Amino acid sequence: MLREGRLGKSVDAEFARYTSSLAFDRNILEYDILGSMAHALMLGRRGIIQEEEMKRILAGLLKIYRSRSVSLDHALEDVHVAVEARLFEEIGETAGKLHTARSRNDQVALDLRMLARDRINRISRALLALEEVLLKISGENKETPMPGYTHLQRAQPTTLAHHMLAHFWSFARDLERLEDAYRRVNLSPLGACALAGTSFPIDRTEVARLLGFSGIVENSQDAVASRDFLLEPLSALAILAVNLSRLAEELILWSTAEFGFVELSDELSSTSSIMPQKKNPDALEIMRARVARAIGNLTSAFALVKALPLAYNRDLQELSPVALDSFEILEASVSMLSRILSTAEFKHERMRATCEGDFLTATELADYLVREKGLAFRTAHRIVGRLVAGAVKAGISPDKITPEMLDDAALEVIGKPLGLSKEELECCLSLEKSIAGKRSTGAPSPPAVEESISRGEAKLAEFRARLEDRERKVKEAFEALLKEVERLAG
Ligand code: ARG
Repeated sequence: MLREGRLGKSVDAEFARYTSSLAFDRNILEYDILGSMAHALMLGRRGIIQEEEMKRILAGLLKIYRSRSVSLDHALEDVHVAVEARLFEEIGETAGKLHTARSRNDQVALDLRMLARDRINRISRALLALEEVLLKISGENKETPMPGYTHLQRAQPTTLAHHMLAHFWSFARDLERLEDAYRRVNLSPLGACALAGTSFPIDRTEVARLLGFSGIVENSQDAVASRDFLLEPLSALAILAVNLSRLAEELILWSTAEFGFVELSDELSSTSSIMPQKKNPDALEIMRARVARAIGNLTSAFALVKALPLAYNRDLQELSPVALDSFEILEASVSMLSRILSTAEFKHERMRATCEGDFLTATELADYLVREKGLAFRTAHRIVGRLVAGAVKAGISPDKITPEMLDDAALEVIGKPLGLSKEELECCLSLEKSIAGKRSTGAPSPPAVEESISRGEAKLAEFRARLEDRERKVKEAFEALLKEVERLAG
């Protein structure tokens, strides 16, 4: 359809297949038609095409929109041409007027922005659900002790609630990054045409408004050449992917017999074809691996845009499926993780048992010596270190430590005993007391966790309100546009 003027009718079939974007374009068909409706409406309103022509075009577009079927013949190159070809079948020669003051370059940028907008919102919705699950688990486990780790070695006691909140707050930043990216995605490039705008008296702002955008991309070259509106969400998604993988990895570890902290639901587990006893966390392994693609996609995207001269280059077409892949991976993974977490059974007894027997409260004892005995922390650290080393060597468990043993260690380090009572020592080494003492903001004591949960809930409510506002604006714009098109199409 496009080629006749300059190149003649026929095209090499292999060339057509190699260069076509139609395989991806089914994902932007709906946006493309809506974009064309808004464009036609504006052309008619501004007298660039006649009212009758506008009505015929809108009627044709409406029919295509309802059937959502266009030819996917690669010779058509892409969805923009496919829709126009279908419009010709519907309304004849008038179809040729639709492309006045427009180019496929601004059209595809528009479609991709509309796609990114929806996908960001869908992922945000999935993330909000995951955040709810994390808050629920936290609310139920404020008094469930578990070891906190550094270097994957048991370090200090914390609670399951506190651990889940760590992930909660990290995903909250992912939500923020997506929100932030959305603001720059939600701008219309339409009217940029090929690169230099147009001499027709178009109204770019009107088209943007009809499609629910908050504004336009100012410069017409920038509008068709730039893809940072995809690089930005892809970066946010790569970070989200990394955050997800850390929780996925922990659940994989926790579900081993070695940890035994969690039992995943049978429905969301696999087994072995040879070892009948096996229960495997396959979805989490897939997740851990699939996020690698989200990281790779970001690298592909950067490499693809890097050093491209302005304005449009066909290279940009290769970015679309890469971006979509990341959008799909993250939406599916976030949703899967919500289901896995909300059906998982945490093994409280086992978590508690791993806190005992490993001197996790040694820091508390050192802190106590600083507070009550006026020692420098470094000195207290050395005394308790000596005490633990002696106990480990003699095979003595923490609950069998005596004040005399502490005095022996103190004698070695500072040349005098400390004279702690048995009760004082027990109190310092108690798991519950250690956790209860951690009252600083964001720390694991139940009251601090309670406050953190409240702040988290408030934050989620704000995210949700803003998300609903974004979704509503797009939905209302589309509804109003379709209503107007239906009215004019008769
Ligand atoms: N399929 C193309 C893409 O995705 C649409 C724009 C084509 N523009 C052009 N000048 N060939 O980028």
